[in-house]
Amino acid sequence: MFLKLNLLCLASLILPLVCPSTEWPRSTSTPTPSPWPEQFHALLYMNLSSSQTLQITHLWYDWRKGRNVNIIQKQLGELQYDVEWNNGTSFYYTLGAQGACEIMYFEVGIPRPDFLDGADYLGTTVTDGFLCNVWEKVDFIWYYEDVLTGRPVRWDFYDGISTHVITFEVGAVLQDSLTQAPSYCFSQEREKLLNADRAFKEGGHRYFLV
Ligand SMILES: *[C@@H]1O[C@H](CO)[C@@H](O)[C@H](O)[C@H]1NC(C)=O
Ligand SMILES: *[C@@H]1O[C@H](CO)[C@@H](O)[C@H](O)[C@H]1NC(C)=O
Repeated sequence: MFLKLNLLCLASLILPLVCPSTEWPRSTSTPTPSPWPEQFHALLYMNLSSSQTLQITHLWYDWRKGRNVNIIQKQLGELQYDVEWNNGTSFYYTLGAQGACEIMYFEVGIPRPDFLDGADYLGTTVTDGFLCNVWEKVDFIWYYEDVLTGRPVRWDFYDGISTHVITFEVGAVLQDSLTQAPSYCFSQEREKLLNADRAFKEGGHRYFLV
């Protein structure tokens, strides 16, 4: 593999010199989105324009451990946990004396690192002050990636939820103990409908992003 890559690099250095008239595919091909790193932490600023609310979300994406954790602070609201597993189970809960929990089951797992494969390239634009490549996938997500670094800058969902990436730490992993659903998730009486509207929305997002 390493050898192959080296040969490829060598070829890419030599070929343009050897055959300068040949059209070099790399410079003319349309950009493709960088896959998500298998493990990262991102601090996200989200504007849920449909409900006129704002939230800060800590996203801990962990493909290796098969989980996608969102720790959500709604403006002047409660801290909510959304722990999504690749087997389709999601736990939504709040902690503390009034803690509530809801478990949901989906037929699909968490987004694959390459969930943007097959997206249509729309060109470049400046957003949030960054020059970005933009892709759109199935009229569902518009995704902005920094041209210079390949990091995600922003993505918008069809339903008006707009996400802005504030920090992006590749390789950061959330402690396992912080992904353990509280015991009341497993006892009927404290399982309440916890913001089901949002839960369903996220479920909808799941279906498109795998
Ligand atoms: C949130 O989005 C709505 C609709 O796009 C916009 O009118 C509003 O200014 C945004 N709010 C913030 C704080 O960005
Ligand atoms: C999916 O995995 C999580 C975490 O290991 C577990 O709590 C949950 O029960 C599993 N769901 C199913 C349907 O097996």
